[in-house]
Amino acid sequence: MARAEDGTSVPIWVQGLEAPTFPALERDLDVEVAIVGAGIAGMSVAYELACCGVPVAVIDDGSVGGGQTQRTTAHLASAIDDRFTSLEKWHGAEAARIAAASHAAAIDRIERIVEQEAIDCGFERVDGFLFLGRGKSRADLDLEYEAARRAGLAPERLDISPFPGLGAACIRFPRQAQIHPLRYLHGLARGAAARGALVFEGTHVARIEEGEPVRLSTSRGASVRARNVVVATNAPIHTLFALHTKQAAYRSFVIGLSVPEGSVQRALCWDMEDPYHYVRLCESVEPAQEVLLVGGEDRRLGTREANDAGERHAALERWARDRFPALGPVVHRWSGEVMEPVDGLAFIGASPGGGSHLFVATGDSGMGMTHGAIAGMLLRDLVLHRPSPWASLYDPSRKPVRAALEYARENLETAAHYLDWLRGGDASLPEIAVDSGAVVREGLRKLAVYRDPDGALHVRSATCPHLGCVVAWNGVERTWDCPCHGSRFDRFGRVVHGPANRDLAPEEPPGNG
Ligand SMILES: Cc1cc2nc3c(=O)[nH]c(=O)nc-3n(C[C@H](O)[C@H](O)[C@H](O)COP(=O)(O)OP(=O)(O)OC[C@H]3O[C@@H](n4cnc5c(N)ncnc54)[C@H](O)[C@@H]3O)c2cc1C
Ligand code: FES
Repeated sequence: MARAEDGTSVPIWVQGLEAPTFPALERDLDVEVAIVGAGIAGMSVAYELACCGVPVAVIDDGSVGGGQTQRTTAHLASAIDDRFTSLEKWHGAEAARIAAASHAAAIDRIERIVEQEAIDCGFERVDGFLFLGRGKSRADLDLEYEAARRAGLAPERLDISPFPGLGAACIRFPRQAQIHPLRYLHGLARGAAARGALVFEGTHVARIEEGEPVRLSTSRGASVRARNVVVATNAPIHTLFALHTKQAAYRSFVIGLSVPEGSVQRALCWDMEDPYHYVRLCESVEPAQEVLLVGGEDRRLGTREANDAGERHAALERWARDRFPALGPVVHRWSGEVMEPVDGLAFIGASPGGGSHLFVATGDSGMGMTHGAIAGMLLRDLVLHRPSPWASLYDPSRKPVRAALEYARENLETAAHYLDWLRGGDASLPEIAVDSGAVVREGLRKLAVYRDPDGALHVRSATCPHLGCVVAWNGVERTWDCPCHGSRFDRFGRVVHGPANRDLAPEEPPGNG
């Protein structure tokens, strides 16, 4: 089974791209390390292990980078997006220092790989600027500045900023960076393959059985026996509960606006609002123009607000036009899914309860690019039984004791979504427009019904196969999104994002169809 479409909005990175292609897995395989998922996390692990001469195979049911990595804005930051003040609260000052060092090391590692593999991905060191935003005071900025200093970075507190529209007071973080994420990922895949890594696309991993060896079954029939397995599927597909209660899925939105070349300083900008905004420049296909990428407006996945992409993109546009003069038309709009850990840091290491040969990387937050590079180095060390200064910080089995409030809030919201079973449907069959979908109630059944452009109905159960929440229609990405732990399905009900690893079950049409 090949991966279904992850969403119908098209990120800027895909345009004009020449992607390498890799075969599907058609035969049984014995390998030292099998990696499920070829996004930034999985490919980074593959590359690092291949550089150490370890035989690895990467298996993806779509294409390399075709998951959330193609939907990123690819800021490479050591300025933690959940803020150092929060990290100190949740993990302590020493842990905040290790976190800052690990993200800085990730940027350095990406820079070295770009040089070593001669990857033409526009890697560029830029400053990062943190601004206040609505509802925040200068005291908040001062506290963050002090916490960033304690974390070992070299921030600079400014009272006159190079982005007056974003405010006067800000913190400058030197030595941040930006890249073209897909060109980088493709370079990483080529580099890993040149060192003997096997890369397979279009191959769905249907089952992971722990043991020695760990066994994978794929939906094309081939099976894989591996001494070690790394699950890098963005949301883990091999556990029902572990990890899913410690992170929540959000949808983040991006617009790209045309702007005359040189009119905006090249930098990364963020504000401290909740949800926050993020800004960077990138190349345009138009002569003498660049594209200003403006992201944010994050909302919990599967909710009405998250599914109203029109309003989210319009809010981003209003925000950008209020702050940046000389903006031209909006030339790109897209959205993607982010797994937010309740305590701000990714989960990278031995999978909880999974023995010593099963590893996981998830909880990317808005820093998934650097978390992915960290996963590459950390999981390499764990697989090779080397010590790592980052192991306990990112341990997937850690308890978010000091983030108990955030833990309770996210899980209460999840629990509230089970009440969707008591509600009616969103529409009746005749109300479903062409190329649109709605949840329809019939007695005890809740059905996910999509009407295709020819008017034919495609009917699936609206029950998420992960843990039974009711999915919701996302009209812009044309996917069924589960508000509980982030599973998503294309309009025909085929799974596109975990933790569910199965399609929505087929159902008879309601009534007489
Ligand atoms: C709008 C947006 C903006 C962002 N901006 C930034 C930013 O500026 N900086 C930053 O650091 N991060 C950012 N992020 C986060 C970051 O981009 C992601 O966290 C990161 O790309 C995720 O990488 P991944 O490898 O974990 O997952 P993915 O890229 O999703 O890769 C997982 C892969 O697993 C495959 N897979 C899943 N299930 C199976 C299966 N059963 N069998 C086989 N293969 C499977 C999928 O096909 C996919 O290719 C952003 C994210 C979004 C959505
Ligand atoms: S993702 Fe867990 S119930 Fe749907």
